[in-house]
Amino acid sequence: MDFKLTEEHIMIRDAARDFANSELLPGVIERDDKQEFPTEQIKKMGELGFLGMMASPEYGGGGMDTVSYVLAMEEISKIDASASVVMSVNNSLVCWGLDTFGNEEQKEKYLTKLTTGESIGAFCLSEPEAGSDATSQKTTAIDHGDHYILNGTKNWITNGSTADFYLVIAQTDREKKHKGINAFIVEKTWEGFEIGPKENKLGIRGSDTHSLIFNDVKVPKENRIGEDGFGFKFAMKTLAGGRIGIAAQALGIAGGAYELALKYSKERKAFGTEICNHQAIAFKLADMHVAIEAARLLVMKAAVDKDNKENYDLSGAMAKLYASQVAMEVSVEAVQVHGGNGFVKDYHVERMMRDAKITQIYEGTSEIQKIVISRSIING
Ligand code: CAA
Repeated sequence: MDFKLTEEHIMIRDAARDFANSELLPGVIERDDKQEFPTEQIKKMGELGFLGMMASPEYGGGGMDTVSYVLAMEEISKIDASASVVMSVNNSLVCWGLDTFGNEEQKEKYLTKLTTGESIGAFCLSEPEAGSDATSQKTTAIDHGDHYILNGTKNWITNGSTADFYLVIAQTDREKKHKGINAFIVEKTWEGFEIGPKENKLGIRGSDTHSLIFNDVKVPKENRIGEDGFGFKFAMKTLAGGRIGIAAQALGIAGGAYELALKYSKERKAFGTEICNHQAIAFKLADMHVAIEAARLLVMKAAVDKDNKENYDLSGAMAKLYASQVAMEVSVEAVQVHGGNGFVKDYHVERMMRDAKITQIYEGTSEIQKIVISRSIING
């Protein structure tokens, strides 16, 4: 495995770092507090090419590799995980899904707008009764010849109200179980499409998460992605890549919390010396550093597997499982290193601790990653 970064990788990583520090850091505490979507910042991220990094250049994408995407995700997530989840969903679920499985017309019509940030996308799989058990879709799309009629409710949808285009997974033939599921591109303005109330969340509060309700929404047949019955595979294949993005987000949250803890420990004095000189703190820093570096190896391995066109179901699930655990543990320890200051908003680490939790839940809980990993090691 060669994880040596190219000059281009370093340039992309540094550009993301600069952007995060200059554009996302100011106001990140307030946006979290007020649950305010980073509208202007996301617009700029689109202009700079951060929203369609891996998509084909002929549709406005950056044509970059997964390693570049992971590096940028990590840097953005160090500062603002709410902005990075918007970036992650748009890049790895929506743009990648459409670029890889959409047809020419769909890419021309939708992907060209999504890669540039002119429009934002959402990925709609979860339902009130189909979260981890994704084959149990209750949302239906009934075939009416040249169109489908979509009915049902989706839950916890990132970019729920800010998106313009939604990739919606629905059951078209219940008898066929997961082979009767399809994926559709749905436009926000279509009749019968309703956006439910915004969720009041523990973390990533700057991102907007909603339920979506579909009441007899007419979806033209040309908006189905792939062959009839491809929807579940579409969701699984797309999520496998999405998990690498979320692993990078977790790595970024861990890295951001660690950097703040290290800095604080070199400034804060107690018992006559900077607290980093006390082993109680120094050993915490050592553990955090090792865990982050181990998580980085797993995240890079998954990204390199994807770039080398090797199977990344296992490496992506391992990266997400471990990096999200590290994000949680490191951010909790970063609060501890900060003592009382860690418990107040001004020092950022309490937000990172809250943001870390979702990385163990969305795009497949840690338990789902263990299902993917254990099946892979048992069945080969
Ligand atoms: N690639 C291709 N095909 C795959 C696949 C993959 N990675 N994983 C499964 N499949 C296929 C299987 O081959 C099988 O097809 P065949 O019958 O043709 O062989 C089919 O899908 C069904 O697979 P399983 O029998 O393995 O299905 P299962 O019901 O046992 O569950 C699961 C599989 C892994 C648990 C899956 O349901 C899952 O991943 N659940 C979690 C869902 C999830 O991640 N939700 C996140 C929501 S999106 C989100 O969070 C976005 C956001 O807003 C941030």
